[in-house]
Formats: sequence, structure tokens, C-alpha cells
Amino acid sequence: MSNNIVVAIDGYSSCGKSTLAKALAKKLHFIYVDSGAMYRAVTLYLIRKNIDVKDEEAVKAVLADIHLNFHARDYQTHILLNDEEVSDEIRLMPVSENVSAVAALRSVRHEMVKQQQRMGRSKNIVMDGRDIGTTVFPNAQVKLFMTADPKVRAERRFKELQPTHPEITLEEVFENIAHRDFLDTTRKESPLVRADDAIILDNTNLTPEQQLDFALTKLEPFLKAQDR
Ligand code: CDP
Repeated sequence: MSNNIVVAIDGYSSCGKSTLAKALAKKLHFIYVDSGAMYRAVTLYLIRKNIDVKDEEAVKAVLADIHLNFHARDYQTHILLNDEEVSDEIRLMPVSENVSAVAALRSVRHEMVKQQQRMGRSKNIVMDGRDIGTTVFPNAQVKLFMTADPKVRAERRFKELQPTHPEITLEEVFENIAHRDFLDTTRKESPLVRADDAIILDNTNLTPEQQLDFALTKLEPFLKAQDR
């Protein structure tokens, strides 16, 4: 497919990017790639190996040992770190607390972006993250920049974690989100910033169905053009 469609969804931590990206991919049969899961899996590897996540040289030295793969099933993120499924473990606090430091490293970003661009070269794809519309796919047909009230974001993530991790408090989740927003927007290497041509989507008061409809409307012209 040469005129493949790329949908880039960027925005703050826990504001529903992956919910929207998955719903779009399912509806349109696009491939969904959760770029954050890649940074999270790298972070998990470093934690397990006791490597200081701020030591760029040490991280760089092991990057070639980290092999990431997605296996597509039911539009959920199934990420394999050196052939081990780590989709659940990467969502836990030890990773959340360190991932933004890892994602600020130039060598890590360089490698992840290269892999992400390869995935979107010839297929219809929805990718969510922080730099998808600015760095990974600056020519994406549709770019969405998502945001929502930080309290609402914390409550949503808290609810998601509660069933399996009742020990995590709402305050911890809120602090972590605020901290990651700060690191992501102020880092030197491709910080989180709205691309000039990205459409802002504030979903504080939107249901998942409403945000899906919003995105589908923006995509419609490109879907029609591809049909022909
Ligand atoms: O799902 P949530 O919003 O909590 O975050 P995520 O998408 O899993 O991403 C985790 C972290 O990875 C973010 O806080 C960023 O520091 C980093 N990230 C990034 O720098 N660039 C991306 N394209 C995606 C994630």
C-alpha cells in the first residue's frame, strides 16, 4: 500500500491516547502501535539489569541487547522484550517512575524512532506517544494532540490500576502523571509539543465513543481518497 494513512496521536500522560488509538485501529483495521510501551520495555530491561537510567553511556552499551516486538492480537498492546511478554509489568510504578528519564536519552530516542518509522512505512497505522506528529511522522495525514484535566487523568489511571494493584494510591498516580508531564515537556530531545498542524482534542468531558467520532470525522476525507 503506497498511499498508506498514518494517524499520529500525541499528548500528556494518561489522557486516553491509547483508548482512542485502539478504538480507531479496531474500527478501521489499522495497525496500532503504542510507542510508549517501547520506552517502558526499555526501562524495564534497565531496571532488571540494575543499570542507572540516567547514565547514557551505560544505557547505550546495552541497547543492542534489547529486542522489542509487538504481537498483534485483538488490538491490545502485547509487547515482547527479548521474547518475553511484559505488557502488564511495564504499567507498574517502578517503570512509570523511571520511564521519562529513559525517554529523555538521545540514543534511546534515536533507536525507538527508527523502529517506529519502519513500522509505518507501508501500512495504515495509528501510533500514539509524545513525538509522533512532530518527529516520527511529521507527514502524518491526521495529527491529534490530546489533553484532559490532570485530576481526571489521574482518576482514570487509578481506576485502571485498582483491580490488580489496590496498594497504589490516587496521590501517587497524580504525582507520577504531573512529574512525567513536566519531564516530557521540558526535555531537550524532541519534547512533548503540539505540532502546528495537530488538532487539539480535550477529552475531559468526552466519552470514549464521542472522542472516537471526533477522530473519525477528521479521518473521513483520507479514507475516501484511499478507497478510490
Ligand atoms: O500511557 P501513558 O500516558 O501513561 O504513557 P505512555 O504512552 O506509556 O509513555 C510512557 C512514557 O514514555 C512517557 O511519559 C514519555 O516519557 C515516554 N514517551 C516518549 O517520550 N515518547 C513517546 N513517543 C512515547 C512515550
